[in-house]
Amino acid sequence: MSTSTTAERYAVIGFPVSHSFSPFIHGLFAKQTEQNILYTRIEAAPEDFERQVGAFFQTGGKGLNVTVPHKQVAAFVARYRTPRAEIAGAVNTLIAQTDGVHGDNTDGAGLVTDLTRNLGFDLANTRILVLGAGGAARGVLGPLLAAAPEYLEVANRNQSRATELANEFGMLGNIRACGFDNISEDHFDLILNATSASLQDQVPPVPHKSIGPTTLCYDMAYGKGDTAFTRWAKAIGAGRAECGWGMLVEQAAESFYLWRGVRPDTKPVLEAVREQKRSSM
Ligand code: ATR
Repeated sequence: MSTSTTAERYAVIGFPVSHSFSPFIHGLFAKQTEQNILYTRIEAAPEDFERQVGAFFQTGGKGLNVTVPHKQVAAFVARYRTPRAEIAGAVNTLIAQTDGVHGDNTDGAGLVTDLTRNLGFDLANTRILVLGAGGAARGVLGPLLAAAPEYLEVANRNQSRATELANEFGMLGNIRACGFDNISEDHFDLILNATSASLQDQVPPVPHKSIGPTTLCYDMAYGKGDTAFTRWAKAIGAGRAECGWGMLVEQAAESFYLWRGVRPDTKPVLEAVREQKRSSM
């Protein structure tokens, strides 16, 4: 029997993509699990996304991670979509199969794994506040509701977008919508920042009363140190404040498993990502 020594090709595709940690993360997964892969970055402007994806798979590429701003379009590029990608209306993982390119979405699973396994936060029967009603929020609502919280409130600047999401996801669990000026509870167990405010170093106008000494504040965004949201949450006394590095590593692990059928151990990889981030500060 002959064994091929040619590395199978994977990449992250986005715009911009030069900052992406995915090659570092997948490189560590591959080393740890002894998988012979080559993982690169592909920068694709929106008008060039479909062509680049087509060229990648036509030349034998095996899988792509899709990042901002292409996740919604990627759902249309995939020939088949998993139910969780269908619910999210977005795809972050493309997989070459014999019958065409399949699309999946591992973001929500990555978030839930980070919350439950890495941070020890049991979502069942909790009160959750999700900030934002864009693509990032949509991508994680299904898996969050599947974990059976007591209820989940979506707050958005433009309340009608939150209402749309609550209507759409209502069949999956106890979900309701509000604006930032009519958030219902005194304290939430978990506040998840799914807005893009941190990218502009801004904090959504969450009332202080929503945060208590046991509240976990989680920013899906991540940066070199604290984000504007985690800095703010710590300053007003949140029990814990975390940014999205763990979600990034866990969603990558889920993609790696879809591609290679092997589940990497994420703990040392998350530590390596944190170390890399510290040394670049
Ligand atoms: P993404 O795919 O990252 O979710 P998006 O679909 O553009 O991007 O959605 C961005 C989200 O962040 C929206 O919920 C947006 O609120 P609006 O729908 O009211 O625009 C929210 N957002 C962006 N900047 C914000 C800010 N400074 N404060 C509060 N919410 C903000």
